[in-house]
Amino acid sequence: MKVSILEDYEQMSQVTAQAIIDQIKQKPNSLLCLAGGHTPLKSYQIFVKTIKDQQIDVSQCSFVSLDEWVGLDREISGSCQETLYDSVFDHLPIRNEQICFFNGLATDMAAECHHIDNFIRQHGTIDLTLLGIGMNGHIGFNEPGVNPNQYSHIVDLDPMTQRISVKYFEQPIEVKQGITLGMKHIFETKTIILIANDIKKASIVKQTMEEEATEQVPSSLLQRHPHVHVILDQGAASLL
Ligand code: GLP
Repeated sequence: MKVSILEDYEQMSQVTAQAIIDQIKQKPNSLLCLAGGHTPLKSYQIFVKTIKDQQIDVSQCSFVSLDEWVGLDREISGSCQETLYDSVFDHLPIRNEQICFFNGLATDMAAECHHIDNFIRQHGTIDLTLLGIGMNGHIGFNEPGVNPNQYSHIVDLDPMTQRISVKYFEQPIEVKQGITLGMKHIFETKTIILIANDIKKASIVKQTMEEEATEQVPSSLLQRHPHVHVILDQGAASLL
């Protein structure tokens, strides 16, 4: 794993945004998978501003979702889809056909999984996946005890994920399941960027990077991927 430890969240976000931009410059028709959650929000702000300031062409890129809460869609503030539209897609000249996201309200979830799997297959593979880390080591909604041989699937959320979910929503919403890209998609990604900030992530970052890779800590399985760049602020790196 390549590791960059930056002074603070701002600089971590700067380096992360630049890495996404470098990918687009290097391969304008990249397929990108961008995480929801709070960690990447500043990176997305810098990414959008840089794209606009430098007039970088994003018309050939495609975007696929990483995960979504089952029962939620773009209408719900705090859903993964709404987060990405609000922080990235609404601000850039990106056409609907460039974006393929899980609909957490789909009546046929198996079909929803096939839809995403086919979209990725049509592009060959994902060029860059940007991941956050859950406090329990989840990546996307690949929860502790994950089966590493799956593509998109529905998952029962870990109790810790359910507890932490309240931070995303303005109103009380109970979430019990997620729909997510599987570890197989993540492993087939050409480049992975894993980001974490704040001391609260220090312990899980240490387990991810320095302890034995185990399905109980899905993020630790990334040790087996050849092209992972971990970008941390000092707080998240404080136990390394
Ligand atoms: C959330 C999301 C993930 C995200 C992770 C970390 O539940 N499903 O996509 O990367 O957990 O979230 P955060 O960045 O808010 O800590």
